[in-house]
Amino acid sequence: MNSNTIYLDNSATTKPLPEVMQTFLQVNELYYANPASIHEAGVEANALLMRAREQIANIVRTEAKDVIFTAGGTESNNFAIFGTAQANVHKGKHIITTKIEHPSVLEAVKILAQQGFEVDYLSVNEAGVISLDELRSKVRKDTILVSIMHVNNEMGAIQPIQDAAKIIHEQSRAIFHVDAVQSFGKIPVQFNDQNGPDLITISGHKIHALKGSGALIFRKKLTIAPYIVGGGQEFGLRSGTVAVPQAVALAKASRIAVEAMAEKTLQYEKWYKDLHLFLRNFGSNIHLLSSEAGAAHIISFSVKELKGEILINALQKHGIIVSTSSACSSKQTTTSHVVEALNIAPSFKKGVLRLSFGAQTIDAHIEQFKTIFSDIMCDLKGENK
Ligand SMILES: Cc1ncc(COP(=O)(O)O)c(C=O)c1O
Repeated sequence: MNSNTIYLDNSATTKPLPEVMQTFLQVNELYYANPASIHEAGVEANALLMRAREQIANIVRTEAKDVIFTAGGTESNNFAIFGTAQANVHKGKHIITTKIEHPSVLEAVKILAQQGFEVDYLSVNEAGVISLDELRSKVRKDTILVSIMHVNNEMGAIQPIQDAAKIIHEQSRAIFHVDAVQSFGKIPVQFNDQNGPDLITISGHKIHALKGSGALIFRKKLTIAPYIVGGGQEFGLRSGTVAVPQAVALAKASRIAVEAMAEKTLQYEKWYKDLHLFLRNFGSNIHLLSSEAGAAHIISFSVKELKGEILINALQKHGIIVSTSSACSSKQTTTSHVVEALNIAPSFKKGVLRLSFGAQTIDAHIEQFKTIFSDIMCDLKGENK
C-alpha cells in the first residue's frame, strides 16, 4: 500500500499505530525473557505482562487475573465456545447464538452440533438486531452457553448486550459470551458489573495493535476447560510461552483507543451521517444496510444489481480501499450469511460494500471517497445506457 492510499477497511484490520510499534519493539529489545522464568529478566517480563493484563482488565472493569492473552479474536471465540461446552456438558447441551456471528463462532458451534449439542440461532431484524423476546423464549434451564456479538463486523449493528445478559442470567446458569472484536476500543464495553456478559473476546489488530494478539476476558469465576494444554501458562487455561511484546502492545493500543474514544466517536458519527446523506441521494439504487442506531465506524450499503467486486476494483484504481461485507466472505462467491439474515431484496444482495473508519481516517478520505464514488456511479450509468 502506498502512502497515498485511502484505507477505509479498518474492520478487516488496522495499521498499527507508531507508538504501539515503538512499545512492541522496545519490549522485544529489552524484555524478551520468558515471563515464566524465575531469573530477574523473567520476573521483569512477567511484571510487564501483568501490567498489560491490568490495563486491559481496567477497561472492562474486571481483574488482571481474568485476562487471558490469546492469538486473536478467532482463538478467543473458539476458546470460549469449546471451553464452555467441554466443561459444562454435564449441565446441558443447549447453546444459543445468532445468525450473524463471525465464522469463528458459527463454525465452532457447528462442530458442537455435530457432536450432539443442540444449537438455536437467533434471527435479526432489518437493522441486524436480535429480538429479546426471541432470546427470552429460547433460553432454557439446560442452556449452557449463549454467544452474541456486540457489534456486527459486516454492517455495524449493535446488540442489546446488557438486556440480553439479564434475561440469560435470570432464566439459566448459562455462560454468556460476547464477541467484542468490533466494539472494544470503539464503543464503550463497560457492561453492568453485576449482570453483564461473562466472557468477552477482543482482538489486537482491529484496534491498531499487532496481528496475532488478543484476549479472552473473564468477568467472573467460570468453569471452562483449557484451550491449549502444556506448560500451564495463562492460569492453566492457555499454555504456551506468552507473547509479551504482543500483549503489551495490545494493552497500549487499548489504552490509546479508550482515551481517544469520545473524540473519535464524534468524528465517526459526523462521517457516518454525512455518508448516509450522500448515499441517500442515489435514491432507490442504493440500499443502506447500516442503521443510524448502529456503530458509527462501520457503514455498509449495497448498489442495486451490481457486484461488490466491480465497485471495489473501480475504487481501488483511484487508491481507495474498501471491502465487500467482510474480509472473510469477500473472496466467496455466495452471499454472506449476514446479508442473508437481513432479508434484503435479492437485487441488493450482490453489491454489498463496507467502509470502516479507524484512527488514521481523516475528513479528506471521506471527501475523496464521495467524489470518486459519484464518478463511478455516473460511469456505470453511462455504460448501462
Ligand atoms: C466480529 C469478529 N469476531 C472475530 C473476528 C476474528 O478475529 P481475528 O482476526 O483476530 O482472529 C473478527 C475478524 O474479522 C470479527 O470481525
